[in-house]
Amino acid sequence: MKKRILTGDRPTGKLHIGHYFGSIKKRVEMQNSGEYDMFILIADVQALTDNFNNPEKVRKNVKELCLDYLACGIDTEKTTIYIQSMIPETAELTVYYSNLVTIARLQRNPTVKTEIAQKKELFGESVTYGFLGYPVSQAADITTFEGELVPAGEDQEPLIEQCREIVRKFNSIYGNVLKEPQIVLSSGKRIKGLDGNEKMGKSLGNAIYLSDSEEEITKKVMSAVTDPNRIKKDDLGNPDICMVAYYHKLFTNPEDVETVCKECREGKRGCVACKKELAKNICDYLKPIREKRKYYEERPELVEKILKEGTKKAKAVAEQTMEKVKKAMKLDYFN
Ligand code: TRP
Ligand code: SF4
Repeated sequence: MKKRILTGDRPTGKLHIGHYFGSIKKRVEMQNSGEYDMFILIADVQALTDNFNNPEKVRKNVKELCLDYLACGIDTEKTTIYIQSMIPETAELTVYYSNLVTIARLQRNPTVKTEIAQKKELFGESVTYGFLGYPVSQAADITTFEGELVPAGEDQEPLIEQCREIVRKFNSIYGNVLKEPQIVLSSGKRIKGLDGNEKMGKSLGNAIYLSDSEEEITKKVMSAVTDPNRIKKDDLGNPDICMVAYYHKLFTNPEDVETVCKECREGKRGCVACKKELAKNICDYLKPIREKRKYYEERPELVEKILKEGTKKAKAVAEQTMEKVKKAMKLDYFN
């Protein structure tokens, strides 16, 4: 039997190159290896935990996220994409799991902690029960599908760890029913923003989106932060503190990267030309993704069909797991 992968994202915005290198690329590689049985969820229920006051935003981004997946090469002949809220089994499991986790443990979850600190404006002094509990619902997402591997960014590590704890607790009380998942991190490190910020993100305005046009990409690259000590072309530069050099390493072939760094250090390269070269390389790299996205954008009925069929397939799997869980919990009354 192929190992099951369960992974996904919150539909709160379009995907950027940080997402791509952080997890999507890895998922596509795993899909294409043919060694796994992959389910990708569009986590609209989880997105509502911090967007409950903005259902339009979540709804709109369900489609955007699906378009991004398809554009990147997720192939629904091989992979199942489904919508979280259409699988009530996951919500049901969340309720049962909520007995197996303490409030203190949720409050200690580093990812949840960071997010709560960032969301003061939404939550004020006291966070909602739903948001604090989203790791429980994520554990339900994974285990509903008996997910063994979770390719995701490193920020998801504490959530997977919490899921593992819930699984162990469940199995110790009700019997060995659930599988403990493992995170699969991309080999690359997290991608920094155009401004040099450690994180690329919409709110920071420092991201290149997979759906950006060539003009948008070029404009963004021209605004990237470079070595501040370089004013004239013959000033000796330091590519180690330049975001343009940093992105060259991701999008430019290695020999050319060497030339970029060498010429920069020797004061033989102008920043404008250097940025233009990078912008072209990023545009070329993203071209097939952009074109594929456009293909699906123009065929909304096809995208809807993909989501409908994926969700239907997911529902059947979820029902099977639920049956096992209910039996183990002695909730199988009328069978
Ligand atoms: N927490 C993920 C995010 O922030 C989304 C998500 C929900 C997820 N359920 C999951 C990821 C299960 C991996 C596995 O985007
Ligand atoms: Fe950065 Fe290129 Fe300018 Fe050097 S020449 S500082 S690498 S943009």
